[in-house]
Amino acid sequence: MSSRHDTGWDRIYHRYPSKCLPWELGQPRGVLVELLDSGRVVPCKTLDLCCGAGTNPVYLAKQGFDVTALDISDKAVKYTKEKVRKAGVEMNLLVGDFVNLPFRREEFDFTFDFGCFHHVEANNRTAFIKGVCRVLKPQGTYSLVCFSYKNGPAWNHFTKEQIFELFEDYFEIERIKHISSLEADQITRYFYEVLMKRLVDQRS
Ligand SMILES: C[S@@+](CC[C@H](N)C(=O)[O-])C[C@H]1O[C@@H](n2cnc3c(N)ncnc32)[C@H](O)[C@@H]1O
Repeated sequence: MSSRHDTGWDRIYHRYPSKCLPWELGQPRGVLVELLDSGRVVPCKTLDLCCGAGTNPVYLAKQGFDVTALDISDKAVKYTKEKVRKAGVEMNLLVGDFVNLPFRREEFDFTFDFGCFHHVEANNRTAFIKGVCRVLKPQGTYSLVCFSYKNGPAWNHFTKEQIFELFEDYFEIERIKHISSLEADQITRYFYEVLMKRLVDQRS
């Protein structure tokens, strides 16, 4: 069955078992583990944007976070639901579109986004950023991991300057650094890891 918002992602999830997805490492992302280990983010009301097959949000829930996870693919959400069941944790799971986040203003303390923002079409980027800003509390934390220009030129491979230009009206960028990752398809990809805080006087 296809998602009612089908963008092609559901077909990918139906075609491949979750362990064959290039982005599914079968373990939580190192950036997330480091964030928690450092104490920079502590258990709180959390949104995992584009949860995929659920490895990251289930890790967060196991660490005591109150997690809401959203993805556009029904099948991805089903994979996540299965992991949630096996882990014996609780999670609010939704099929939905990142451009129209179905949450109340200032509902979350922390938003985790691994590989989500770089899939937002260029003409929707501002709406997406305003949406993330709207659902985060003032000073709430947004951890973004997106493709970097180091992967070669493409519409969604960002430079540091582009990231500042897109986000600085809404967030204070506390940290931005390059990371690389050997993905499950054995290709090394380059990302910017960006840690930001929602500006207090932002009323998106
Ligand atoms: C590269 S995967 C990353 C998944 C997950 N964050 C992870 O690290 O394993 C991108 C995800 O974005 C989801 N996605 C794409 N477009 C979306 C949209 N418009 N709204 C919500 N999710 C979307 C896809 O279904 C897919 O699960």
